[in-house]
Amino acid sequence: MNFRDNRNIEQVCENIYLVTAPQRGQFPYCHSFLFTGDENILLDAGTDENLVKEIDESIGIDTLLISHSHPDHIRRWCVLSHRRLLLPVETPDTVFNIEELGRRYVGTRERGLHWVEAIGKPLGIEALREPDGRFSNGEIIENGTCRIEAIHAPGHLDDHYCFFEHNTGTLFTTDIDFTSFGPWYGNPEGRIDPFIESVRRVMKIPYKRVCTSHKPVFEGDATGRFDAFLAAFYRQRNEVLLHIGVGKTLRELVEISPFYRNRFFDIKIQQYFEEHMIEENLRALIHDEIIGEYQGRYFVI
Ligand SMILES: [Fe+2]
Repeated sequence: MNFRDNRNIEQVCENIYLVTAPQRGQFPYCHSFLFTGDENILLDAGTDENLVKEIDESIGIDTLLISHSHPDHIRRWCVLSHRRLLLPVETPDTVFNIEELGRRYVGTRERGLHWVEAIGKPLGIEALREPDGRFSNGEIIENGTCRIEAIHAPGHLDDHYCFFEHNTGTLFTTDIDFTSFGPWYGNPEGRIDPFIESVRRVMKIPYKRVCTSHKPVFEGDATGRFDAFLAAFYRQRNEVLLHIGVGKTLRELVEISPFYRNRFFDIKIQQYFEEHMIEENLRALIHDEIIGEYQGRYFVI
């Protein structure tokens, strides 16, 4: 069967295809992108397992390119374990051990073990193997038809990358994803300021269309989407500020759950992620002298 006949595979432009993930690409899935040419390259492995197998059997995927080491982007990498694996140069060796990976996502060994049970195992996440190659900022990955520039875009995660395909003007912003949740920086590596800087940098690239990992392809000028994504950093900050009221501890703010609104499927993991996102915003609010902290309580100045 020709992979192009599959209704979940959509041509974006010449030699580039969107491989649509289940649940419209929402976590714990992510869309993949296929670059066809002398070599066939798949960007990220967070889509349906059978779909990846079907493409591989139809045309042969030569290379799996990983944008960053989040579970929804590496989830089906094992299907292509016999193919060339390319990882960012910044991806730490903790990705080679599932418990270490868990610790990296949530900060401590004990929390990491819970991540393995609550997310790692149920989603079938396996530790990555040593890659066949690493890419770094500015490097061009070519396959005869596409020239894919790797753009390091930290903030979401230290090893988070966007990509720009020069021949078609297609920008892949991966988890600068235009979702209604807004920017996500819930791991210990998550940082607001580098994240904002990354968004501002990639939105200046002279693209013709923008592909994200969790939304449909956006044709044309996406400035409005980027601006809305940037504005969401301040919306999140204001949500924390609003809940501080006459004074709150970090624990109390985490229990209020201003971002997840207590709707994540595992409450402990939600609290680990949300705690970090709240701390990042508290740090920014203290820096801007909007709030202060006294004996563990935060209050508006
Ligand atoms: Fe991510």
